[in-house]
Amino acid sequence: MAMVGDGQAGEGRREDKMPDLQSAAQLAQYVRISRLLAGRLDFQSAIDAVAKEIKAVIPHDHMDVCIISPGSTFHIAYESGLATDWSRRPPASIRFSPLRDMLEGACDTMLTGDACTDPRFHFEGAFAGPILEHRLRARLHAALKVHGETIGVLSCSRLEADVYTQEDLDRACLIADLIAPYFYALRASEEARKLAIIEAEARVREETLRQGARQLTEELDAERQRIGMELHDQTLADLTRIARRLERLSLSGPVSGAMLEPLCLSLQQSMQELRQIIEQARPSVLQLFGLAEAIETHLGRAVCDSGLSIRWAMEDATGGALASLPPPVSLALYRIAQEAINNAVRHSQASRITVRIWQEKAQLYLEVSDTGIGLKTGRLNKGTGIGNMQTRASLIAASFSCGSGSRGSYVRVILPLPPVPQVSSGETAEMGDHEGEHHEAADR
Ligand SMILES: Nc1ncnc2c1ncn2[C@@H]1O[C@H](COP(=O)(O)OP(=O)(O)OP(=O)(O)O)[C@@H](O)[C@H]1O
Ligand SMILES: [Mg+2]
Repeated sequence: MAMVGDGQAGEGRREDKMPDLQSAAQLAQYVRISRLLAGRLDFQSAIDAVAKEIKAVIPHDHMDVCIISPGSTFHIAYESGLATDWSRRPPASIRFSPLRDMLEGACDTMLTGDACTDPRFHFEGAFAGPILEHRLRARLHAALKVHGETIGVLSCSRLEADVYTQEDLDRACLIADLIAPYFYALRASEEARKLAIIEAEARVREETLRQGARQLTEELDAERQRIGMELHDQTLADLTRIARRLERLSLSGPVSGAMLEPLCLSLQQSMQELRQIIEQARPSVLQLFGLAEAIETHLGRAVCDSGLSIRWAMEDATGGALASLPPPVSLALYRIAQEAINNAVRHSQASRITVRIWQEKAQLYLEVSDTGIGLKTGRLNKGTGIGNMQTRASLIAASFSCGSGSRGSYVRVILPLPPVPQVSSGETAEMGDHEGEHHEAADR
């Protein structure tokens, strides 16, 4: 039962009785509220639809319905009349709501003559700013209850003090009972919709990853075929030719050094070609010197081979953290950087390309940026490079993004790092040998 004494603030449990309806006109008003809700598929349009009718029953300057997110301790407000910060912020914790007692089910109604001074709305941490900012003084609140559970609160406020009575509160309770089942159903359907979206997104992600992995496997097969063909057409052909010449030499009597010289040259050439084939299959500089060096080598080579006048810079500010990356992760990052650099050289028309690797809050960042024409994601040519970079990032659980920055374009990969084991006081972690190190090629 609502407690109101001498026009003072009150709060309480709701009585399980219908308030007296004084006329058929009043009954018609309530029925209209119920009818207006029909067909409203979201909270805000439901509030907007009934605000005018509720105002005719309970005059107010501000009305809001706050709804508790199912299974959580968060709530969200939908307003009519004055717009306040209550509805502008994201779902907020019930703990800091001025209506926390109601939202937590401790009481079903609240009535106050002046919320600006009523201590129940102004405890420590309470988000009561809108009450003071908009001078919401007389206020009444009725819980929205379904199956005995509080799912939200209907609130009406006036700028004038001491204007709401117990009868107004009873009417608010009746309206709350009318709209509660509808809001309950809306909440359930919104929840189902959110779940459906999450599931659909997960399915799309899974499918994209599967497609990407399939594409990479196909590329790997193609690469194997290429290596096989090159070994067959190039290396094997060279070795066969050398073997035949050796055979002929062995049959032709004594062999002089001069006769062996062209054979040695052919052998050296063949070995050089074999090295190139191996290098393309797995970059040895990555194995020997690590990721930063391998990227830097590729960057320098790509710019140099292009014959373009591009300045470049490589910055590794990870302080040696790259050394502890597992080899498949290093290789994936290297391949991503390689493609991003190739794209920048081929497409960007940039005067400068920069690769930066750094660490921030247990995440490793790799960024390739250029000062060129920018990457217009809406109208990209159909290539496989960007898709491959995305897939490679997904396969190592890193996030991938690319686009246009303030100047030119960027490709960024963010890799979550495993927690670093604690270093005992006797040992010191290897720190920042390369910190801030900045290699830069001179203008060409
Ligand atoms: N750094 C960049 N600056 C400007 N445009 C870019 C840049 N990187 C990519 N693009 C644009 O995006 C398109 C798609 O890139 P993607 O790497 O997927 O394919 P590609 O480089 O054209 O071909 P592939 O990588 O398959 O050999 C490019 O054709 C180019 O138009
Ligand atoms: Mg490309």
